Amino acid sequence: MRIVAAIGGSIIIKDYDYKKFQEYAEVLKKLAEEHEIFVVVGGGKPAREYIQVVRDLDCGEAKCDDIGIEVTRINAKLLLLALGNSSYQKVPHNFQEALEYSASGKIIVMGGTEPAHSTDAVSAILAEYVQADMLINLTSVDGMYTKDPNKYSDAELIEEITATEMLKFINGNDVKAGTYEFFDMTAIQMIKRSSLETIIANGEDPQNLVKAIKKEKIGTRIISE
Ligand code: UTP
Repeated sequence: MRIVAAIGGSIIIKDYDYKKFQEYAEVLKKLAEEHEIFVVVGGGKPAREYIQVVRDLDCGEAKCDDIGIEVTRINAKLLLLALGNSSYQKVPHNFQEALEYSASGKIIVMGGTEPAHSTDAVSAILAEYVQADMLINLTSVDGMYTKDPNKYSDAELIEEITATEMLKFINGNDVKAGTYEFFDMTAIQMIKRSSLETIIANGEDPQNLVKAIKKEKIGTRIISE
């Protein structure tokens, strides 16, 4: 299968630590023996911190995004370092380059592309672009909940949701640089228009990526409609 995996910055670089890069590298190398793998890495805390500096400089939102993108690309480079020769040692800056580099047969790792969305959207557009069989979004929670699980103890995990329902659900969320909440609208629109098979799962344990690929019951499945 051709798989696009989005790994949230909050997962891969939670504590400026090498461990998650190494753990993910091991899992991805193994998966690449059987599947064609594209990875999109988020910015996490470092991106938010850098974005705050740009915001304080009062340079406008697109410039904040621009710095955010640079940070996602640094994180992508770190994952390339952890993956070594199993990966194509250059971070694509757009979808065309990602497809081009994939001719190497190696794992492709990218970060952001252009302002006004998050790496969730990048992963969904990439999945469309390379006609992936599956999109897996690895995040810091178990999936989509009825309410914010960090604020409400009675929040319930949603096992399956249509893209249309999800669009209604997250409409009105903040879309400022560094503050995309949970999932961004562009990503869902792509999932909807291309009927992308999508799973949102907890990325704290990289094995959840393997489980999602094996179609084990995990996280939230987004179905098109
Ligand atoms: P992330 O994808 O990590 O955003 O990109 P996020 O959802 O805010 O962070 P997490 O998932 O909670 O960790 C970091 C920032 O980089 C910019 C946006 O400002 C985004 O918030 N960005 C990223 C872009 O403008 N375009 C891109 O293609 C990617």
